[in-house]
Parts: sequence; structure tokens; C-alpha cells
Amino acid sequence: MLSGHCGDLMWDEAMVGGAGPVTVGEWQPPAELNTGVPHPARMYDYYLGGKDNFPADREAAEKVIAAMPDARLGARINREFLGRAVEFAVGQGVRQFLDIGTGIPAVGSTGEVAHRVAPDARVVYVDNDPIVLTHARALLAHHLAGHTSVLHADLRDPEAILGDPGLKEALDLSRPVALMLVAVLHFVRDEEGAAETVARLRDALAPGSLLILSHGTQDFMTAQAAAETTRIYSRASSPLVLRAKEQVREFFGDFELADPGLVQLPLWQPRAELPQGWQGAAPAYAGVAIKR
Ligand SMILES: C[S@@+](CC[C@H](N)C(=O)[O-])C[C@H]1O[C@@H](n2cnc3c(N)ncnc32)[C@H](O)[C@@H]1O
Repeated sequence: MLSGHCGDLMWDEAMVGGAGPVTVGEWQPPAELNTGVPHPARMYDYYLGGKDNFPADREAAEKVIAAMPDARLGARINREFLGRAVEFAVGQGVRQFLDIGTGIPAVGSTGEVAHRVAPDARVVYVDNDPIVLTHARALLAHHLAGHTSVLHADLRDPEAILGDPGLKEALDLSRPVALMLVAVLHFVRDEEGAAETVARLRDALAPGSLLILSHGTQDFMTAQAAAETTRIYSRASSPLVLRAKEQVREFFGDFELADPGLVQLPLWQPRAELPQGWQGAAPAYAGVAIKR
């Protein structure tokens, strides 16, 4: 049995089904976790001030921060967009969330926001990083049983996601779902089928469903910062693919973009005054679109 303590969460394999007690022990990373290679989930966790990262993640993240000094603010701005978009979806009557590329659940995660405003919401988390799954499952055992499921799957294999019994059990695809691809598609290359994957997922959704998406772009970066950031991620487990506005827009297919359309990330329905330095901190597009 795997058990241990990572960051601020205790976990135990028996907890996965919500069954067993929490066991505290000397934490050993799960065998499938390659801690020597930086991973986007753990780098993102570092930007957000989390503790679930390893020296290789921190080293790569610090290099990104050297190229883009506001990277930490950018991660926070992205999480805030996610929260606003989840609340928007609830306001549209959506109660089902398929969050692919979940990241390490932390403050402001999809489930936290959704359940605050709609306690009956159902959330399916999908990620390909074992550490994300460990944390998500530990949370599931503690607070979220019955409302949240966690799938270990890869965005590049949409058939596996859609065919997963866990997804079928948790979500009713004949009713509206908010498909969340927040800060994840830029880890999928064109030649890995990025466009086809998103089209397959869009097709599986019922009318009234939403696509919530944010995506890194070179459009708001200097050429030097874009080249440096891309170079650092090329040594991580997933390379970074920055895309221009029109390429990002194509991911929405024939879904209808909600106001204000596809915009630089902090400008999507902002609630408060934008933080100083947001222009450079958030080199990403964001949009939410509805399937009619
Ligand atoms: C930058 S984090 C974004 C987390 C969260 N969506 C947010 O915006 O706050 C990207 C997440 O996508 C996951 N990811 C990257 N490539 C993936 C893939 N091919 N399939 C599934 N998850 C992936 C990473 O493990 C990481 O958890």
C-alpha cells in the first residue's frame, strides 16, 4: 500500500474509495512519479505557492520566472479566471463539470468553486500526472465523495476519457456539461491531434454545454521571453505550444463565444480592478463558449 505525506496533504491508497483511515508515514513518491523531470502540474503548483513540487520542478519554474518575472501572478490570474468561468457556468444552469488537466487541487479549484455555488454539482477531474491524482483522490475521500470523481487519463486520448466507466457513472452526457480545458491545451502539439481531440470532446456534449478554455500565447510576450519559456518547457514532461489568437479560436469550433469573446485572460469578465503588471503576467487567451 502506498501511503504518506506530500505537501500539506496526508494520503493513503485505501482512501481512494473513501474507505480507509489516513496513514502518516515517511512519504515516498509513487513509483510512477518521475521526480527528476519537471512536470507542468508541479511547476504550476510552485508558481501558486504550493508545496507539491520537487527540485527539478522548482529549478525549471525559477528559470521561467527569470524569463517572465510575473509568472506567479499569471498562474493566480489563470486560477481566478477558472473560478469566474465556473460561476458563469453555474449561472447558465450547468451542474456538471469535466475538468481535463485539473492540476493539483488547491484554493480556487473547480470543485471548490462549483460546490460553493451549487452543492449538487458533479465534477470529474482528469489528469495524467500521478501526483495530481493522489491529491485529488485524498480530497475526494475527505470531503467530496459522491460529487467528484477522479480519472487518470490523457487529454490526447479522448476516447479513453469518454469511455471511462467513472465518467459515465458521474456525468450524464445527454445533459449540459462544462468542458474545462484550462491551461492544458498548450501542452498538446498539433501533431498529437490537439484540434481533433477538442473536436471529439465538443461532439460528445449536449446542447447547452460550455467549453471553458485558457491557452498560452506568444501574442503578449517578447519574442525572447517566448523562446526562453518554450525552451525550458521542452525539457519538461510536456513541451509548451504557444498559439496565436486565431489558432486558439479554432478550438471552439461552432460553439458561440459568450461575452466578451476570446480575450487576454484577465479581461474575461473581470470583477475587480486588474492587478498591476497583469499585461505581462498573463500571456494567454481565455474564452467560454456555448453549444447551441
Ligand atoms: C498548468 S496546470 C493547469 C491546472 C488547472 N487546469 C488550472 O488552470 O488551474 C496543467 C495541468 O494539465 C495537466 N496535463 C498536461 N498535459 C496533459 C495531458 N496530455 N492529459 C491530461 N492532463 C494533462 C498537468 O498535469 C497539469 O495538472
